[in-house]
Amino acid sequence: MKIVVTRKIPGNFLEKLKEGNDVWISSFDRPLTEEELISNGKGADVLLSLLTDHIDGEMMDAIGPNLKLISNYAVGFDNIDVEAAKSRGILVCNTPSDDVNEAVAEHTWALLMSLSRRIVEANYATKNGAYKGWEPDIFLGTTISGKTLGIIGLGRIGTMVAKKAQGMGVDILYTKRNPDPEANSSFKFVSMDELLSQSDFVSLHVPLTDETRHMINGNTLSKMKTGAYLINTARGPVVDEHELVDALRSGHLGGAALDVFDNEPEINPELIGMPNVILTPHIASATHEARNKMGEMAINAIIDFASDRKPSNLVNNDTWDNRRK
Ligand code: DGY
Repeated sequence: MKIVVTRKIPGNFLEKLKEGNDVWISSFDRPLTEEELISNGKGADVLLSLLTDHIDGEMMDAIGPNLKLISNYAVGFDNIDVEAAKSRGILVCNTPSDDVNEAVAEHTWALLMSLSRRIVEANYATKNGAYKGWEPDIFLGTTISGKTLGIIGLGRIGTMVAKKAQGMGVDILYTKRNPDPEANSSFKFVSMDELLSQSDFVSLHVPLTDETRHMINGNTLSKMKTGAYLINTARGPVVDEHELVDALRSGHLGGAALDVFDNEPEINPELIGMPNVILTPHIASATHEARNKMGEMAINAIIDFASDRKPSNLVNNDTWDNRRK
């Protein structure tokens, strides 16, 4: 089998693929360009891709008729046109696990706490010599306990974020298409508008789809409480970044913490200059535990496929019976 790996991943998992296969691993320390992906991917049976690779039907055709599996080293798979894969009999796998859910949930809380207690600003000022002794009014923040956290998208990650709120004395509101019968009874299902108007913190945990693209925009932001905080560890294009900048500039929002951006890796320069905005470079899942698990799952999907076993983390389950041979 010809296996093309678009970028090195942490751990030794790629070694496992080399037994009996023709494996090409990109040596670049950056995503491949479209041209590089086509020229190196041509003839591949399997692609091990990253979320930075944009793989639509045209790309699948350019790689060629041998392409049977795309194993995406990510939980999200909005970088792949799954419908196009399905219509070509190409299988798509992703890497969801509790290790990733935990890592993203922890990062969400790290951002929430850093925002409310102004940790990043205070750290920067202290390291730059601004600390002259205790003062009654420097870096006043917001108490978290007793506040309300609104979770948009109570899936696996959203649920883990919500569970962590219990020890913090924070009330949870959530919204999704329908109330979740499995949700803890203390989590309150509300409409989107209610969530926005009642939450002190709003955290996004939806996948990127046509429905969720720019779901946080001027209109929805205007419904948030004055002084509320927005946290996004989901996908950048869920938020209209320009309209977020307006809401922050006007003082309507108290702050925002973003791990993902509308047009990665570009970041709106105004966000960079705002002291009440915390930015991290799409690292919510970046723990050793989570990234190892992702590597293990991405490789196991390929090994299962090579042995004609259905990978457990197949995104387009319904393609299995009609898969390309
Ligand atoms: C994912 O797995 O989708 C994450 O965004 C990668 O960190």
